[in-house]
Amino acid sequence: MTTEPTGLRDLLRAQKVFPEGMPEFDPDAAPDDPVTLFLRWLEAAIQDGVLAPHAMTVATADERGRPSSRVLICKDVDGEGRWYFASSAASGKGRDLAVNPGAALSFWWPQQARQIRVRGPAVPAGAKASAADFLARPPASRAEGLVGHQSEPLDDLTELDRAFRVSYERVSADPGLVAPAWTLYALTAGEVEFWQGSPERRHIRLRYQRAGSAWTRQLLWP
Ligand SMILES: Cc1cc2nc3c(=O)[nH]c(=O)nc-3n(C[C@H](O)[C@H](O)[C@H](O)COP(=O)(O)O)c2cc1C
Repeated sequence: MTTEPTGLRDLLRAQKVFPEGMPEFDPDAAPDDPVTLFLRWLEAAIQDGVLAPHAMTVATADERGRPSSRVLICKDVDGEGRWYFASSAASGKGRDLAVNPGAALSFWWPQQARQIRVRGPAVPAGAKASAADFLARPPASRAEGLVGHQSEPLDDLTELDRAFRVSYERVSADPGLVAPAWTLYALTAGEVEFWQGSPERRHIRLRYQRAGSAWTRQLLWP
């Protein structure tokens, strides 16, 4: 399908970005640490019915600095400022992180015009934690993880269907089976930025930076 470039530009310009009734954000009243604020905003996103509020874009870069990004599910956030996600260590992102742990993730919750950005090194959380994450998945998700080959070329969808069936039988027969490459990653935040959109375009940006065991806070120009 070809689209008139000018028509597309008009179509894009006509799209609404911000909702009615965006929440207020007073950066002076923000908590001392970004995890507390993240959890408050997450709770508000869940209450407002944001679809998949735990879906986040995760960016990595390979050994030559070539970036990639994709959406992953956030598995947990702990009090130490670690954001968790899980995937195959053999995937594109897994290979990137093996040579370059530097990663960034972002959440966008349109109903509230809120963006959260997190940056820091992402490393495997350990075999035990990875196995526990895998075993907490429903059977179909475990079978999907066991299929493997993530990010490799696939010649035919029937191959996928066959591999999935075999994997499903294996996880059903052995509920303790863990896909060897399945890895829970922990991204330790060095900085976390909260962005609150405003109808008057007076967007508020508040960045937390780790300073030893505490955090510093800084407003940023929007
Ligand atoms: C909403 C959503 C959630 C996803 N969650 C995961 C996830 O938790 N783990 C995962 O490996 N892939 C997940 N994916 C698929 C990834 O976006 C991606 O296609 C896959 O991990 C391969 O990425 P890579 O080739 O960059 O390694 C998800 C996709 C979407 C759209």
